[in-house]
Amino acid sequence: MRSPDGLEAILLVGGQGTRLRPLTLSTPKPLLPTAGVPFLAHQLAKARAYGVRRVVFATSYRASMFGEAFGDGSGFGLEIVYMTEDTPLGTGGAIRNAARALTCPPDAPVLVLNGDILSGHDIAEQVDLHVSRGAAVTLHLTEVDDPSRFGCVPTDDDGRVSAFLEKTPNPVTNRINAGCYVFQRSVIDAIPEGQVVSVERETFPGLIAAGELVLGYADTSYWLDVGTPAAFVQGSADLVLGKLASPALPGPVGECLLLDGAVVSPEAKVTCGTVVGPRARVEAGASVRGSVLSEGCHVASGATVVNSVVGVGARVASGAVLREVVVGDGAHIGPGNELTSGMRVWPGVNLPECAVRFSSDV
Ligand code: GDD
Ligand code: MG
Repeated sequence: MRSPDGLEAILLVGGQGTRLRPLTLSTPKPLLPTAGVPFLAHQLAKARAYGVRRVVFATSYRASMFGEAFGDGSGFGLEIVYMTEDTPLGTGGAIRNAARALTCPPDAPVLVLNGDILSGHDIAEQVDLHVSRGAAVTLHLTEVDDPSRFGCVPTDDDGRVSAFLEKTPNPVTNRINAGCYVFQRSVIDAIPEGQVVSVERETFPGLIAAGELVLGYADTSYWLDVGTPAAFVQGSADLVLGKLASPALPGPVGECLLLDGAVVSPEAKVTCGTVVGPRARVEAGASVRGSVLSEGCHVASGATVVNSVVGVGARVASGAVLREVVVGDGAHIGPGNELTSGMRVWPGVNLPECAVRFSSDV
Protein backbone atom coordinates (compact mmCIF):
# COMPACT_ATOMS: atom_id res chain seq x y z
CA MET A 1 0.00 0.00 0.00
CA ARG A 2 1.34 3.48 -0.83
CA SER A 3 0.54 6.47 1.29
CA PRO A 4 -2.46 8.52 0.27
CA ASP A 5 -1.80 11.29 -2.22
CA GLY A 6 -2.71 14.48 -0.45
CA LEU A 7 -0.98 13.78 2.87
CA GLU A 8 -0.39 16.99 4.84
CA ALA A 9 2.92 17.71 6.57
CA ILE A 10 4.24 20.12 9.20
CA LEU A 11 7.87 21.18 8.88
CA LEU A 12 9.58 22.43 12.05
CA VAL A 13 11.91 25.24 11.01
CA GLY A 14 11.82 27.75 13.87
CA GLY A 15 15.07 26.91 15.67
CA GLN A 16 17.95 29.39 15.84
CA GLY A 17 20.61 26.94 14.66
CA THR A 18 23.05 28.16 17.32
CA ARG A 19 25.45 25.25 16.82
CA LEU A 20 25.91 26.37 13.22
CA ARG A 21 26.94 29.95 13.97
CA PRO A 22 28.26 32.04 12.29
CA LEU A 23 26.53 30.50 9.24
CA THR A 24 23.11 30.92 10.85
CA LEU A 25 23.59 34.53 11.97
CA SER A 26 22.05 35.75 8.72
CA THR A 27 20.37 32.61 7.34
CA PRO A 28 18.22 30.06 9.21
CA LYS A 29 19.71 26.56 9.23
CA PRO A 30 17.03 25.07 6.93
CA LEU A 31 17.82 27.66 4.24
CA LEU A 32 21.62 27.21 4.16
CA PRO A 33 22.70 26.31 0.63
CA THR A 34 23.36 22.56 0.67
CA ALA A 35 24.57 20.81 -2.48
CA GLY A 36 23.43 23.80 -4.51
CA VAL A 37 19.92 24.41 -3.12
CA PRO A 38 18.43 25.51 0.23
CA PHE A 39 18.67 22.57 2.63
CA LEU A 40 14.88 22.22 2.84
CA ALA A 41 14.61 21.67 -0.91
CA HIS A 42 15.96 18.14 -0.36
CA GLN A 43 13.36 17.40 2.33
CA LEU A 44 10.51 18.94 0.32
CA ALA A 45 11.38 17.02 -2.86
CA LYS A 46 11.49 13.79 -0.88
CA ALA A 47 8.17 14.47 0.88
CA ARG A 48 6.58 15.29 -2.49
CA ALA A 49 7.83 11.99 -3.90
CA TYR A 50 6.07 10.15 -1.03
CA GLY A 51 2.66 11.71 -1.60
CA VAL A 52 2.79 14.91 0.47
CA ARG A 53 0.94 17.72 -1.29
CA ARG A 54 0.51 20.41 1.37
CA VAL A 55 3.14 21.56 3.86
CA VAL A 56 2.72 23.91 6.82
CA PHE A 57 6.00 25.58 7.78
CA ALA A 58 6.25 26.21 11.54
CA THR A 59 8.52 29.26 11.53
CA SER A 60 9.90 31.63 14.15
CA TYR A 61 13.58 32.68 13.75
CA ARG A 62 13.92 34.89 10.63
CA ALA A 63 10.45 33.73 9.54
CA SER A 64 10.06 36.00 6.49
CA MET A 65 13.06 34.42 4.74
CA PHE A 66 11.18 31.14 4.26
CA GLY A 67 8.41 32.73 2.21
CA GLU A 68 11.00 34.55 0.13
CA ALA A 69 12.75 31.24 -0.63
CA PHE A 70 9.76 28.94 -1.25
CA GLY A 71 6.75 31.20 -1.97
CA ASP A 72 3.50 29.27 -2.34
CA GLY A 73 5.38 26.03 -3.05
CA SER A 74 4.18 25.66 -6.65
CA GLY A 75 7.80 25.40 -7.82
CA PHE A 76 7.93 22.12 -5.89
CA GLY A 77 4.48 20.87 -6.89
CA LEU A 78 3.34 21.61 -3.32
CA GLU A 79 1.10 24.03 -1.51
CA ILE A 80 3.13 25.71 1.25
CA VAL A 81 1.56 27.79 4.01
CA TYR A 82 3.40 29.57 6.82
CA MET A 83 2.50 29.71 10.52
CA THR A 84 4.78 31.92 12.60
CA GLU A 85 5.34 31.97 16.37
CA ASP A 86 6.13 35.45 17.68
CA THR A 87 8.16 33.79 20.41
CA PRO A 88 9.33 30.19 19.89
CA LEU A 89 6.82 27.71 21.32
CA GLY A 90 9.12 24.66 21.38
CA THR A 91 8.59 21.66 19.14
CA GLY A 92 5.16 20.70 20.56
CA GLY A 93 3.83 24.25 20.74
CA ALA A 94 5.01 24.81 17.16
CA ILE A 95 3.26 21.68 15.90
CA ARG A 96 0.03 22.70 17.70
CA ASN A 97 0.23 26.22 16.29
CA ALA A 98 0.89 24.97 12.75
CA ALA A 99 -2.03 22.53 13.00
CA ARG A 100 -4.43 25.50 12.84
CA ALA A 101 -3.59 25.59 9.11
CA LEU A 102 -4.24 21.88 8.44
CA THR A 103 -7.29 20.94 6.38
CA CYS A 104 -7.46 17.19 7.13
CA PRO A 105 -10.01 15.57 9.51
CA PRO A 106 -9.14 14.50 13.12
CA ASP A 107 -8.64 10.84 12.17
CA ALA A 108 -6.14 11.57 9.37
CA PRO A 109 -2.38 10.93 9.66
CA VAL A 110 -0.14 14.03 9.54
CA LEU A 111 3.58 13.87 8.77
CA VAL A 112 5.80 16.04 11.02
CA LEU A 113 9.44 16.65 10.12
CA ASN A 114 12.35 18.26 11.92
CA GLY A 115 13.81 20.71 9.41
CA ASP A 116 17.45 19.67 9.67
CA ILE A 117 17.40 15.98 8.74
CA LEU A 118 18.66 14.10 5.69
CA SER A 119 17.10 10.66 5.60
CA GLY A 120 16.82 7.83 3.12
CA HIS A 121 13.96 6.08 4.92
CA ASP A 122 10.70 5.12 3.22
CA ILE A 123 8.08 7.61 4.45
CA ALA A 124 5.26 5.58 2.85
CA GLU A 125 6.25 2.49 4.86
CA GLN A 126 6.26 4.53 8.05
CA VAL A 127 2.78 5.94 7.28
CA ASP A 128 1.48 2.51 6.33
CA LEU A 129 2.72 1.00 9.62
CA HIS A 130 1.06 3.84 11.54
CA VAL A 131 -2.28 3.41 9.76
CA SER A 132 -2.33 -0.42 9.85
CA ARG A 133 -1.57 -0.54 13.60
CA GLY A 134 -3.90 2.34 14.46
CA ALA A 135 -1.15 4.19 16.37
CA ALA A 136 -1.46 7.59 18.03
CA VAL A 137 2.06 8.52 16.86
CA THR A 138 4.70 6.60 14.89
CA LEU A 139 8.33 7.73 15.23
CA HIS A 140 11.07 7.04 12.73
CA LEU A 141 14.01 5.52 14.65
CA THR A 142 17.63 5.09 13.67
CA GLU A 143 20.82 3.94 15.41
CA VAL A 144 23.77 6.19 16.25
CA ASP A 145 27.07 5.76 18.10
CA ASP A 146 26.35 8.49 20.67
CA PRO A 147 22.64 8.41 21.61
CA SER A 148 23.14 10.90 24.48
CA ARG A 149 22.92 13.78 21.98
CA PHE A 150 19.45 12.71 20.80
CA GLY A 151 16.12 11.35 22.01
CA CYS A 152 16.77 7.78 23.18
CA VAL A 153 13.80 5.53 22.30
CA PRO A 154 13.55 1.94 23.62
CA THR A 155 10.83 -0.28 22.12
CA ASP A 156 9.41 -3.72 22.87
CA ASP A 157 9.51 -6.65 20.41
CA ASP A 158 6.32 -5.41 18.81
CA GLY A 159 7.73 -1.97 18.02
CA ARG A 160 5.81 -0.27 20.84
CA VAL A 161 7.78 2.64 22.36
CA SER A 162 8.25 2.05 26.09
CA ALA A 163 10.00 5.32 27.02
CA PHE A 164 11.25 8.56 25.48
CA LEU A 165 14.45 9.86 27.08
CA GLU A 166 15.51 13.17 25.54
CA LYS A 167 19.28 13.84 25.70
CA THR A 168 19.82 11.49 28.61
CA PRO A 169 23.38 10.99 29.91
CA ASN A 170 22.53 7.32 30.44
CA PRO A 171 20.97 6.02 27.22
CA VAL A 172 19.48 2.53 27.45
CA THR A 173 19.75 1.83 23.69
CA ASN A 174 21.51 3.24 20.62
CA ARG A 175 18.15 3.59 18.94
CA ILE A 176 17.11 7.24 18.71
CA ASN A 177 14.34 9.50 17.53
CA ALA A 178 15.19 10.37 13.93
CA GLY A 179 12.94 13.45 13.84
CA CYS A 180 10.17 12.29 11.46
CA TYR A 181 6.77 11.54 13.00
CA VAL A 182 3.33 10.43 11.85
CA PHE A 183 0.70 11.86 14.22
CA GLN A 184 -3.01 11.29 14.25
CA ARG A 185 -4.31 14.83 13.80
CA SER A 186 -6.51 14.45 16.90
CA VAL A 187 -3.34 13.84 18.97
CA ILE A 188 -1.87 17.13 17.75
CA ASP A 189 -5.13 18.92 18.53
CA ALA A 190 -4.85 17.73 22.14
CA ILE A 191 -1.51 19.57 22.67
CA PRO A 192 -2.24 22.74 24.70
CA GLU A 193 -2.48 25.77 22.41
CA GLY A 194 -0.36 28.93 22.70
CA GLN A 195 2.06 27.45 25.24
CA VAL A 196 5.68 26.38 25.15
CA VAL A 197 5.59 22.57 24.83
CA SER A 198 8.31 20.05 23.94
CA VAL A 199 7.12 16.94 22.11
CA GLU A 200 10.27 15.17 23.25
CA ARG A 201 10.05 16.04 26.96
CA GLU A 202 6.28 16.36 27.42
CA THR A 203 4.03 15.04 24.64
CA PHE A 204 5.72 11.69 23.91
CA PRO A 205 6.37 10.74 27.56
CA GLY A 206 2.79 11.81 28.37
CA LEU A 207 1.26 9.65 25.62
CA ILE A 208 3.34 6.64 26.73
CA ALA A 209 2.34 7.15 30.39
CA ALA A 210 -1.33 7.36 29.33
CA GLY A 211 -1.08 3.98 27.58
CA GLU A 212 -1.54 5.39 24.05
CA LEU A 213 0.01 3.39 21.22
CA VAL A 214 3.30 5.12 20.33
CA LEU A 215 5.14 3.06 17.71
CA GLY A 216 8.69 3.01 16.44
CA TYR A 217 9.46 2.54 12.75
CA ALA A 218 13.13 1.49 12.81
CA ASP A 219 15.35 1.26 9.76
CA THR A 220 19.02 1.45 8.84
CA SER A 221 18.97 3.74 5.80
CA TYR A 222 21.11 6.87 5.46
CA TRP A 223 20.41 9.37 8.26
CA LEU A 224 22.03 12.62 9.38
CA ASP A 225 21.08 15.62 11.54
CA VAL A 226 22.96 18.53 9.96
CA GLY A 227 22.87 20.65 13.13
CA THR A 228 26.66 20.98 13.58
CA PRO A 229 29.27 22.34 11.14
CA ALA A 230 30.90 18.91 10.77
CA ALA A 231 27.55 17.27 10.01
CA PHE A 232 26.53 20.09 7.66
CA VAL A 233 29.62 19.70 5.44
CA GLN A 234 29.26 15.92 5.59
CA GLY A 235 25.61 16.09 4.49
CA SER A 236 26.44 18.39 1.60
CA ALA A 237 29.31 16.15 0.45
CA ASP A 238 27.21 12.98 0.80
CA LEU A 239 24.51 14.47 -1.45
CA VAL A 240 27.08 15.46 -4.08
CA LEU A 241 28.69 12.00 -3.94
CA GLY A 242 25.28 10.31 -4.21
CA LYS A 243 25.46 8.56 -0.83
CA LEU A 244 21.91 9.85 -0.36
CA ALA A 245 19.83 10.30 -3.52
CA SER A 246 17.99 13.61 -3.68
CA PRO A 247 15.54 14.65 -6.39
CA ALA A 248 16.59 18.26 -5.67
CA LEU A 249 20.32 17.86 -6.49
CA PRO A 250 20.94 20.43 -9.28
CA GLY A 251 23.56 18.41 -11.17
CA PRO A 252 24.99 14.94 -11.71
CA VAL A 253 26.41 12.95 -8.81
CA GLY A 254 30.24 13.12 -8.73
CA GLU A 255 33.39 14.21 -6.92
CA CYS A 256 32.32 17.85 -7.02
CA LEU A 257 29.39 20.06 -7.94
CA LEU A 258 30.20 23.27 -9.81
CA LEU A 259 27.44 25.88 -9.70
CA ASP A 260 26.77 28.73 -12.15
CA GLY A 261 29.86 30.75 -12.97
CA ALA A 262 32.20 28.71 -10.70
CA VAL A 263 35.77 28.75 -12.01
CA VAL A 264 38.14 25.91 -11.06
CA SER A 265 41.68 25.82 -12.44
CA PRO A 266 42.51 22.55 -14.23
CA GLU A 267 45.56 22.46 -11.94
CA ALA A 268 43.42 22.50 -8.76
CA LYS A 269 42.16 19.34 -7.03
CA VAL A 270 38.50 19.60 -5.98
CA THR A 271 37.18 16.28 -4.67
CA CYS A 272 35.22 14.26 -2.06
CA GLY A 273 31.84 15.91 -2.70
CA THR A 274 32.93 19.56 -2.63
CA VAL A 275 30.45 22.20 -3.80
CA VAL A 276 31.92 25.20 -5.61
CA GLY A 277 29.30 27.93 -5.30
CA PRO A 278 28.14 30.39 -7.94
CA ARG A 279 31.02 32.60 -9.17
CA ALA A 280 33.44 31.06 -6.64
CA ARG A 281 37.06 30.63 -7.81
CA VAL A 282 39.66 27.97 -7.04
CA GLU A 283 43.17 28.67 -8.30
CA ALA A 284 45.91 26.36 -9.57
CA GLY A 285 47.58 24.16 -7.00
CA ALA A 286 44.76 24.53 -4.46
CA SER A 287 43.35 21.35 -2.91
CA VAL A 288 39.73 21.31 -1.71
CA ARG A 289 38.16 18.16 -0.25
CA GLY A 290 34.66 17.51 1.11
CA SER A 291 33.93 21.22 1.55
CA VAL A 292 31.34 23.87 0.86
CA LEU A 293 32.66 26.90 -1.03
CA SER A 294 29.95 29.55 -0.94
CA GLU A 295 28.96 32.06 -3.58
CA GLY A 296 31.73 34.35 -4.80
CA CYS A 297 34.42 33.05 -2.45
CA HIS A 298 38.05 32.65 -3.53
CA VAL A 299 40.58 29.91 -2.73
CA ALA A 300 44.02 31.03 -3.86
CA SER A 301 46.90 29.00 -5.30
CA GLY A 302 48.37 26.37 -3.03
CA ALA A 303 45.67 26.72 -0.32
CA THR A 304 44.24 23.56 1.28
CA VAL A 305 40.59 23.35 2.40
CA VAL A 306 39.31 20.11 3.98
CA ASN A 307 35.82 19.40 5.39
CA SER A 308 35.23 23.14 5.82
CA VAL A 309 32.77 25.86 4.89
CA VAL A 310 34.05 29.03 3.22
CA GLY A 311 31.38 31.74 3.46
CA VAL A 312 29.94 34.05 0.80
CA GLY A 313 32.65 36.28 -0.68
CA ALA A 314 35.29 35.03 1.78
CA ARG A 315 38.93 34.74 0.68
CA VAL A 316 41.48 32.05 1.53
CA ALA A 317 44.96 33.23 0.60
CA SER A 318 47.84 31.35 -0.89
CA GLY A 319 49.22 28.56 1.24
CA ALA A 320 46.56 28.83 3.97
CA VAL A 321 45.28 25.53 5.40
CA LEU A 322 41.73 24.96 6.74
CA ARG A 323 40.63 21.67 8.28
CA GLU A 324 37.12 21.35 9.75
CA VAL A 325 36.70 25.10 9.93
CA VAL A 326 33.86 27.54 9.26
CA VAL A 327 34.87 30.83 7.66
CA GLY A 328 32.11 33.46 7.87
CA ASP A 329 30.91 35.58 4.96
CA GLY A 330 33.39 38.15 3.70
CA ALA A 331 36.21 37.01 6.00
CA HIS A 332 39.83 36.89 4.81
CA ILE A 333 42.32 34.20 5.81
CA GLY A 334 45.77 35.59 5.12
CA PRO A 335 48.66 33.62 3.62
CA GLY A 336 50.16 30.84 5.69
CA ASN A 337 47.45 30.61 8.38
CA GLU A 338 46.64 27.09 9.51
CA LEU A 339 43.22 26.69 11.15
CA THR A 340 41.95 23.35 12.48
CA SER A 341 39.14 21.36 14.07
CA GLY A 342 36.08 23.33 14.94
CA MET A 343 37.54 26.83 14.57
CA ARG A 344 35.06 29.46 13.43
CA VAL A 345 35.98 32.77 11.86
CA TRP A 346 33.26 35.40 12.22
CA PRO A 347 31.96 37.31 9.15
CA GLY A 348 34.21 40.10 7.91
CA VAL A 349 37.19 39.16 10.11
CA ASN A 350 40.61 39.68 8.54
CA LEU A 351 43.36 37.28 9.66
CA PRO A 352 46.60 38.85 8.46
CA GLU A 353 49.50 36.88 7.05
CA CYS A 354 50.80 34.35 9.55
CA ALA A 355 54.37 35.43 10.35
CA VAL A 356 55.13 32.81 13.01
CA ARG A 357 54.94 29.05 12.38
CA PHE A 358 54.95 26.38 15.03
CA SER A 359 56.43 23.08 14.10
CA SER A 360 55.96 19.88 16.10
CA ASP A 361 59.49 18.71 15.38
CA VAL A 362 61.35 21.76 16.75
N1 GDD B 1 8.78 26.44 14.95
C1 GDD B 1 9.67 26.03 15.87
N2 GDD B 1 9.60 26.55 17.13
N3 GDD B 1 10.60 25.11 15.52
C2 GDD B 1 11.48 24.71 16.47
C3 GDD B 1 11.47 25.21 17.78
C4 GDD B 1 10.47 26.20 18.11
O1 GDD B 1 10.38 26.70 19.25
N4 GDD B 1 12.48 24.62 18.48
C5 GDD B 1 13.09 23.76 17.61
N5 GDD B 1 12.49 23.82 16.40
C6 GDD B 1 12.82 23.03 15.20
C7 GDD B 1 14.24 23.22 14.70
O2 GDD B 1 14.29 24.23 13.72
C8 GDD B 1 14.55 21.84 14.10
O3 GDD B 1 14.10 21.73 12.77
C9 GDD B 1 13.71 20.89 14.95
O4 GDD B 1 12.70 21.68 15.59
C10 GDD B 1 14.53 20.12 16.00
O5 GDD B 1 15.28 21.06 16.76
P1 GDD B 1 16.86 20.85 16.98
O6 GDD B 1 17.33 22.03 17.74
O7 GDD B 1 17.53 20.51 15.72
O8 GDD B 1 16.82 19.61 17.99
P2 GDD B 1 17.91 18.48 18.22
O9 GDD B 1 18.58 18.09 16.96
O10 GDD B 1 18.78 18.89 19.34
O11 GDD B 1 16.99 17.25 18.75
C11 GDD B 1 15.84 16.86 18.03
O12 GDD B 1 16.18 16.11 16.88
C12 GDD B 1 16.88 14.84 17.14
C13 GDD B 1 17.12 14.18 15.80
O13 GDD B 1 17.96 14.94 15.03
C14 GDD B 1 14.97 15.99 18.98
O14 GDD B 1 13.74 15.76 18.32
C15 GDD B 1 15.67 14.66 19.32
O15 GDD B 1 14.79 13.84 20.07
C16 GDD B 1 16.05 13.93 18.04
O16 GDD B 1 16.77 12.75 18.35
MG1 MG C 1 18.63 18.85 15.02
